[in-house]
This record gives sequence, C-alpha cells and structure tokens, in this order.
Amino acid sequence: MALEGLRARRTFWRTTVLSLGLLVLLLYWFPVRNLDLLIPMGVCPSATMVLLRDNFTGVLRLWNRPNVLTCTSWKAPIIWDGTFNPDVAQREARRQNLTIGLTVFAVGRYLEKYLSHFLESAEQYFMVGQRVVYYVFTEQPAAVPRVALGPGRQLRVEPVMRERRWQDVSMARMRTLHEALGGRLGREAHYVLCMDVDQHFSGLFGPEVLADSVAQLHAWHYRRPRWLLPFERDERSAAAIAFGEGDFYYHAAVFGGSVAALRRLTAHCARGLQLDRARGLEARWHDESHLNKFFWLHKPAKVLSPEFCWSRDIGRRAEIRHPRLFWAPKEYAEVRN
Ligand SMILES: *[C@@H]1O[C@H](CO)[C@@H](O)[C@H](O)[C@H]1NC(C)=O
Ligand SMILES: *[C@@H]1O[C@H](CO)[C@@H](O)[C@H](O)[C@H]1NC(C)=O
Repeated sequence: MALEGLRARRTFWRTTVLSLGLLVLLLYWFPVRNLDLLIPMGVCPSATMVLLRDNFTGVLRLWNRPNVLTCTSWKAPIIWDGTFNPDVAQREARRQNLTIGLTVFAVGRYLEKYLSHFLESAEQYFMVGQRVVYYVFTEQPAAVPRVALGPGRQLRVEPVMRERRWQDVSMARMRTLHEALGGRLGREAHYVLCMDVDQHFSGLFGPEVLADSVAQLHAWHYRRPRWLLPFERDERSAAAIAFGEGDFYYHAAVFGGSVAALRRLTAHCARGLQLDRARGLEARWHDESHLNKFFWLHKPAKVLSPEFCWSRDIGRRAEIRHPRLFWAPKEYAEVRN
C-alpha cells in the first residue's frame, strides 16, 4: 500500500514538473505578446480600396497586402510596404518643390546617446533627394554633433529650457512645437514630421508618408482589441477616451502633417496638458495620451503601418517586411534622470 502511494506521488510530481517545463519552453518559443498575431486585423473593403488615391503616391495598391488592414473606417489609407510607389512620391514632392521639416527633441542624456545616430541615419534614409530642414530642440546647443549634411539639407538648433523631469520634457514638447510652427519652421517648411530621438532610420522614409495629418500605429498595440488599448481612461483628464471609443493607439514617436494641421494638433495637446496640470492630473502616457485624443476627434488623413516605427524587442513578424525606423531599446534608468 505504502509503496503504491509513494509511486503515485512520484508520478504526480513528475507529471507536474514536466508540464511546467513544457509550458516554460512554449512561452519561450512563442511569447505571450505574439498572441496578438492570432487576432485578425480586419481587411479594407474592396469598394474603398479601389477609390483611395493619395496626393503623393497616386493610386495606392492596397490589395498588395491582403493580410493586413490597409484603410481606416473613415477611408484614410494605412501605408504598408508594397502599397505605394516610392518613385512616384519622390517625383510628386519635387514637382511641388516642397521643404520638409523634421523636428526632434534631444534633451539631457538623450542628446549624447541618440542624436548623432538619429541624424546620420536620417541623412541616409529620410526624404532623400528632397529639401529638408532639421530642427533640433535642446538645452545644450553647443553639444549638438556636427553631422555632414547633403545638398539642400539644413540643420537648425533651437534652444529650450531644461525641465526637471522627463515627463515635463515630453509635455513641454507640444507647446514648444506649437511656437516653432508659428515661427521660422512654419514659414520654411510645408510638411513637418515630429519624431522622438531614441530611434534610427533603417530604410527609405520618403514623401509617401506625407499628408495633411499623419499618425503612426503603435508597434506594440496595432493588433490589440480597442478595450485593451492604453488610452487615458480617467474621465477628469482632457485626454480621456471612454471604453468603446478610440480607433487605434497611435505612437507619439512619429506624427506629422501640414504646418496648419500641426498647429491645430499641438495647440490642442498643449491646452489639454495645461488643463490636466491645473487639475493636478497627468495623463497615463503624457503627451501621447493627448495626441491620441486629438486623433480620435480629428481623424488623421494618413496612417503609417508599424513598419514605419518598429521595435526589435517584439521580434520578427512576417507582416513587418521592411522596417524603416527602429525604436532604440529603452534604457530609461540611464537616460531619464
Ligand atoms: C523652390 O523652393 C525654394 C525654397 O523655398 C525656392 O528658393 C525656389 O525658388 C523654388 N523653386 C521653384 C522652381 O519654385
Ligand atoms: C490632398 O490635397 C488637398 C489639396 O491640397 C487637401 O485638401 C487634402 O487634404 C490632401 N489630402 C491628404 C490626404 O492630405
């Protein structure tokens, strides 16, 4: 009897240990975040697809990417690799004789750690062949690295005040951008892309991204159901988005548009941030929460697929064919204090 009991117990433990081991192995091969891949993204209705034209790329071949969502419910294109002709976009931007602005904030340790790689990779890949003006906002103008710029490309350094906390840096960004768009930047650029500095270009990022207002699908959230998106839910906040609301979760690392549209966007976000501060609130993802609220109220004219701002931490995915911008691995402890 005793022997049998011992055997049964041993079998029980063996099975348990074995199953736990298998589970760990399974999670290692197929991390939880990849469960996202099991959620269908939806498809763009073919009636919408054939009608979508674009000011820069002309006809979009949205049917080239049948396994991903290529348009929004308000009929804006979602730009994926293979849906546009980069040469057509190049020619069109040159025909319009555009100047394209790229703004970046390099504050505190972000400057030494990321700025040269960001600018050097931008020289290689960002709006190649176009007239470009970089605006680097920093509190250490003398420390901005000298990067060799191609013809027709300029760099301007805009001094900003040092904020005490990185949250404040991120929140002051909207106000600073708003002022810059009302000044020289707004006069010299037709379209502006606003980007985070802790990333670098890895593929051509051309005029196919341009539109009146442009939003970036967040690489970590583009396949999640709406109720799981990290919107600000506190209804006292100006950035609040109720359950059942919200279209996509957009990443504040890349947004852009025409100068007029960006003036409206930055004014809205700066006002929201200020209202929240007056009430002693801080939205969950700071200026990104307010950006998401703005794009919920004023739909973007163009949406960029996660290929335009990808994170290596997510791993490889078949649908991410050609990442154009890589988000640097986060080393918050090192750069945020
Ligand atoms: C294109 O724009 C630049 C700068 O704004 C200007 O100097 C130039 O004259 C323009 N060229 C044409 C053909 O309009
Ligand atoms: C295309 O250009 C027209 C005229 O300039 C503008 O009204 C419209 O918003 C543009 N479309 C997009 C998607 O930006």
